[in-house]
Amino acid sequence: MDCLEAIFTRRSIRHFLKKPVEEEKVLKAIEAGHWAPSGLNNQPWRFIIVEREDLKEELSKLTHYGRIIKEASNLIVVFLDNNSSYHREKDIQAIGACIQNILLALHAQGIGAVWIGEILKNREAVESLLKAKEGWELMAVIALGYPKKEGKSTRKDLKEVIGGWYK
Ligand SMILES: Cc1cc2nc3c(=O)[nH]c(=O)nc-3n(C[C@H](O)[C@H](O)[C@H](O)COP(=O)(O)O)c2cc1C
Repeated sequence: MDCLEAIFTRRSIRHFLKKPVEEEKVLKAIEAGHWAPSGLNNQPWRFIIVEREDLKEELSKLTHYGRIIKEASNLIVVFLDNNSSYHREKDIQAIGACIQNILLALHAQGIGAVWIGEILKNREAVESLLKAKEGWELMAVIALGYPKKEGKSTRKDLKEVIGGWYK
C-alpha cells in the first residue's frame, strides 16, 4: 500500500476479531510512530503496550469506550515525556504526528485501530495503573486489532477548509 492510499483508506476501527495481532506488527507500527518529526528532534513520545486481559479490564472502566478497549488485541498507550519536553505545544503536535504514523502503519499492515482520547479524563488513574514513569503524561490510547467491521467516515468538502490561495 502506498502512502496516499493508506491515508485515504484509513478509518477508525471500533470492532475487532478475537485474533491476536502479531508482536512484530505492533512493534513496526511503534517504529513508524518513532520516525515522526518532532521539534529539535526531541522525540518526546513514550509507549506502554498492553495485552494483559486484567489490565484491559481495569482500563475499560476508565472510559466510555470500555467495550473497544476490551475487544482490542493490544493497546498502545502513548505518553508525553515531560522530562524531554522543550515546548509543550510543539511537543503535543509531535505526539499527534506520531500517533497518525502509528495508525497508518497499522492500517498498511491490515490492522484496524482507533485513537481513544476520551480516557484522558482519567489520566492520573491510567498513569498509576500502568506504573508510568515520573513525568510521563498520558496523551492517548490506541486500541488495535484485526478489523471485524469497516469504519466509515467522510470529510467536509475541501472548499470548506481552504481559506485562501494567494497566487
Ligand atoms: C484527538 C482525538 C481523540 C479521539 N478520541 C476518540 C475516542 O475517545 N473514542 C473514539 O471512538 N474515537 C476517537 N477518536 C477518533 C475520531 O472519532 C475519528 O478519527 C473521527 O471521527 C474521524 O473518523 P476516521 O478516523 O474514521 O476518519 C479520536 C480522534 C482524535 C484525533
